[in-house]
Amino acid sequence: MPQRDLHAPLFLGNEGFASENQMVRLDKNALMGLFEQWKTISSLASLRSALSDFKHALQDTQHTIYGHGLTQHHVEFTQAYLSNELHQIATALTLARAQYYLDRLIKSVSEVRTSSVNDLNLNRWKEYNDVLTDSLWLIDRRDHSGVHTAGYWGNFIPQIPNQMMKRYTKKGDWVLDTFAGSGTTLIEGQRLGRNTIGVELQHRMVEHAKKLVAAESNKHDVTVDVIEGDSTTINYKALLKKYGQTSVQLVIMHPPYFDIIKFSDDVHDISNASSVDVFITMLGTIAANAAQVLDQGRYLVIVIGDKYAQGDWIPLGFQTMNEVMQRGFSLKSIIVKNFEETAGKRNQKELWRYRALVGGFYVFKHEYIFLFKKQ
Ligand SMILES: C[S@@+](CC[C@H](N)C(=O)[O-])C[C@H]1O[C@@H](n2cnc3c(N)ncnc32)[C@H](O)[C@@H]1O
Repeated sequence: MPQRDLHAPLFLGNEGFASENQMVRLDKNALMGLFEQWKTISSLASLRSALSDFKHALQDTQHTIYGHGLTQHHVEFTQAYLSNELHQIATALTLARAQYYLDRLIKSVSEVRTSSVNDLNLNRWKEYNDVLTDSLWLIDRRDHSGVHTAGYWGNFIPQIPNQMMKRYTKKGDWVLDTFAGSGTTLIEGQRLGRNTIGVELQHRMVEHAKKLVAAESNKHDVTVDVIEGDSTTINYKALLKKYGQTSVQLVIMHPPYFDIIKFSDDVHDISNASSVDVFITMLGTIAANAAQVLDQGRYLVIVIGDKYAQGDWIPLGFQTMNEVMQRGFSLKSIIVKNFEETAGKRNQKELWRYRALVGGFYVFKHEYIFLFKKQ
């Protein structure tokens, strides 16, 4: 996020932000002192006038509440968040209501409230504009930052592991990806400070993923590794032991969608499973094996789409969901995500629309992200 120059004027109106995400950094003690003063104010008009003074003080480059560098004595807000909170206090209809909003703002500065599975500060929940909570994801732009590319046919968009790690892990937690592919989860794990271990069948993909991970900085100094192996039979306990661990806090599975893409000729490659039923049972087995090293109350994410065979819709997603629910997991959410449009698909769009009209079917535009909790 861009940092605001602390000595530049700061406008706290609700209008005309350069960027909603611009950061405002303030001296925490000075700010808390100011809030305490506001709490003693006994009329709404005086409180509004104090808020207006504050707004002007923030535009005054000499004012003491400006800080230099981020330390534990500073607090950061997005410009939009601070502005909206102050606006809400100023436009409250009663003093009691204004004080209520003020108390909430004070809490957001003085207290951190996180759940047991992530680092999101629930006292500042309004600031997490980047964290999705809806069950329909329409994401038309893949994150191409750093070493991420769409180069590996069948890789998922980095936003998927990114969102899942932010919601379901804390910094320093351990994440297991049973189908590492080109390493998208590993790269995101490294960026977010999550130790991440992947399993991948194909030697060339293991090498590829390792190269990508090495090309990104490991600023949180976490362990990120990918092991060549068969995720249906690998001993996850022994795997984790190598890293001095006995469990993980999140499992991500992004399997082949049965035989839609044949990833290799290897008989252990589950895209070569002999039937849909065998494929679904394999996924169930992997989920059950991974569950043995997943902490209780933690989450398993499976990303999968459906397929057509001889004109019939084969609901791989729901079949997988049912299978995994028999394996000691409860279903927490079904997210439906669009397929982003690639240049190749765009050229074929008309053709598929025509075929759909002739054949009386619908063209796949979505896949599923199933979220399970270990019971
Ligand atoms: C859909 S891709 C995963 C892509 C990955 N999420 C990414 O972003 O690059 C599925 C991967 O599973 C691998 N695979 C298939 N069968 C496997 C098995 N039995 N054990 C481990 N990996 C397997 C394939 O080689 C392929 O790379």
